[in-house]
Amino acid sequence: MVTIREEARRDIAARDALLDMAYGASRFAKTSERLREGRMPADGLSLIAVDDGKIVGTVRHWHVTAGPGRAALLLGPLAVDPAHRNRGIGTALVRRAIARARLAGHRAIVLVGDAAYYGRFGFAAARTGELWMPGRYDRDRLPALELCPDAMAGARGLIAATGAFAPKPDLNVLIAANNRHARQPRVQRAA
Ligand SMILES: CC(C)(COP(=O)(O)OP(=O)(O)OC[C@H]1O[C@@H](n2cnc3c(N)ncnc32)[C@H](O)[C@@H]1OP(=O)(O)O)[C@@H](O)C(=O)NCCC(=O)NCCS
Repeated sequence: MVTIREEARRDIAARDALLDMAYGASRFAKTSERLREGRMPADGLSLIAVDDGKIVGTVRHWHVTAGPGRAALLLGPLAVDPAHRNRGIGTALVRRAIARARLAGHRAIVLVGDAAYYGRFGFAAARTGELWMPGRYDRDRLPALELCPDAMAGARGLIAATGAFAPKPDLNVLIAANNRHARQPRVQRAA
């Protein structure tokens, strides 16, 4: 049975593998990634779908401003394991995350994605025409969902990251780990 729960640190490697499978290396070139890199995702809004202990779905949200002074969330990336698609897992992840965002008092969610998929949740591009992303994107693929009435009315300007900065990896720890790996005998490394 598929269950949905909050993402934990132990999920990171499996989640990364799932995103690599769903999007390939191009996932780091996406303009929405410019709003995520180096930042922490929004608390309590990163969800994981698990089937029999295996991570089969992921969604995250990020703090942004949708034009000056208009706090919003950015949804993404959303991905479901190809072998588990069309079973409602993506829908369940998004619906659960939206409900949590509403409960936490967030006012609006924006994303870059297919309107044909996100329309079912109420996302629409009607009020995003005067917003822009920090890079190339397709204007038709920038819808928003208002969690409070008129939360996006008059929205205009750059969508910019506002989330807390992620802690930088300690360079000395990385060098020590790299040196340890380099010192290991080849046979042992191959095992
Ligand atoms: C998009 C994605 C998350 C959907 O996950 P899922 O668990 O299969 O979704 P659900 O089972 O909830 O919904 C399936 C429905 O969405 C439709 N759908 C899937 N991807 C779609 C898309 N890009 N555009 C429009 N509809 C889409 C399916 O045709 C199906 O339609 P139906 O309900 O009429 O049969 C998954 O296909 C995926 O990981 N894709 C690769 C990554 C990606 O493109 N993510 C962002 C989407 S813009």
